Amino acid sequence: MEWSRNKRYRNYADWSAEYLLDLERKAACSDYKMNYHIQPKSGLLNDPNGFSFFNNEYHLFYQAFPFGPVHGLKSWMHLTSKDLVHWQDKGLAIKPDTKFDSHGAYSGSAIAVNDKLFLMYTGNHRTNDWTRIPYQLGAWMDKNGKIEKLSQPLINKSLFISEHFRDPQIIKENNRYYALIGAQDDRSKQGQISVFSSKDLTKWTNLGYLNFTDEKMGFMIECPNLVKVDGKVLLIFCPQGLDRNINDYQNIYPNTYLIGDSVDLDQADFKGNYQIQNLDEGFDVYATQAFNAPNGKAYAISWVGLPEVNYPTDKEGWANCLSMVKELHIKGGKLYQQPVKNIKKLRSEIPLEFKNQTGIICRNSHRQYELKLDINANQSGTIVLEADKQAQQGIKLKFNTGKDANLLVDRSSAGIVFAQEYGTSRKVKLNNQENLKLDIFVDGSVCEIFANDGLKVLTLRFFAPKEHQKIAILADKQLKYFGKMWYMDNM
Ligand code: FRU
Repeated sequence: MEWSRNKRYRNYADWSAEYLLDLERKAACSDYKMNYHIQPKSGLLNDPNGFSFFNNEYHLFYQAFPFGPVHGLKSWMHLTSKDLVHWQDKGLAIKPDTKFDSHGAYSGSAIAVNDKLFLMYTGNHRTNDWTRIPYQLGAWMDKNGKIEKLSQPLINKSLFISEHFRDPQIIKENNRYYALIGAQDDRSKQGQISVFSSKDLTKWTNLGYLNFTDEKMGFMIECPNLVKVDGKVLLIFCPQGLDRNINDYQNIYPNTYLIGDSVDLDQADFKGNYQIQNLDEGFDVYATQAFNAPNGKAYAISWVGLPEVNYPTDKEGWANCLSMVKELHIKGGKLYQQPVKNIKKLRSEIPLEFKNQTGIICRNSHRQYELKLDINANQSGTIVLEADKQAQQGIKLKFNTGKDANLLVDRSSAGIVFAQEYGTSRKVKLNNQENLKLDIFVDGSVCEIFANDGLKVLTLRFFAPKEHQKIAILADKQLKYFGKMWYMDNM
């Protein structure tokens, strides 16, 4: 199908039910379908939005274009969960149906206020000559999931900000509300994070750009998020066009983070002396959204997909998925991300265990599992996931736990090759001569790798032939490691 502008921005009501059903059917039959990750029923999914806790459950929304695998007219889809693992689909929540969000209900966040959930998001409006006008909008959702949009924008673009002004994260601090908004300064054309504050969610005051680095943050910052983690503050953001000398990355755009000691939002001042780093060292993480739950924990969930990258399932009319929910911790000035503990609920009662050996360690992975490996120091070898019979093809995890310790993930032989212009492997440094702990989750066409208790995370999509379901550990010498594996249930 040719995706002309007209088609991308066609009114939702103008798509036939038949067309949508057909698209849903195709996605449901896909060989690349996931079973314990959130994926679109049809069309395209991108950023997680409105991740929050309200009315005794977790709420999560995501950016959706239900009618095809392209970035068309966006809306918010809604899901709820009691345990951050099992999610119930609540369907379409914010439709692009007003003047202010006529060309997309773009990303945003949510916060519980008394007995309602306040949603704050960007309305993308285009004029007849296709000039973009961004508005920061508000809506209330009641306990029955009924959403009422506010009739007027909360924040209009200021003079010095370009058309790129979006993705408000709303937070509450000392009885005031603050919004962090991704922006491009119109004079310098540089990426910034705008800070606004409000007492009553109605009247918003511009506090200027967040002061968090002396470096230039590319041409635009998308999806800024601030959370408190173990006595520190954590800023997660997506700088587009970031100089690779500031922080090295291979993806089209990185999803980065910065740890801080404290933040003074009234002064728009983020204090600390840490390095900007990649949140994920894999191929496909972007637009991660984090929030502080009432239990004090910081949870994050990522879009497993990237802007301006095509994925093999485009052919089937759907694209992308979300990561598992990750719990964040900071220890010794370092960020750790781990899947929420409740994910263990999905482990099947019968663990698939195997002996300490090299060669094929699992004959049929079912492509829906968790694999834990604890590899001793001073060894090297290759783990092949979703491998063919000879274990020559598959997702290859090459490790060296000796000197120059590192882990390399190579997806060049893992099935359909895509996005190869950004490289087919990713490498992370490890501490020399230490054990390597891997916690690997595979589901259909997504793989999330947590190394050393989540100090490094590598997330990737892969599109392997269905029959490639062997797992092998290859090495020149017999290896010393401990392994355990579980089948993971559907969510
Ligand atoms: C990030 C992003 C956001 C925007 C949304 C639109 O992936 O470009 O900046 O709000 O996607 O879908």
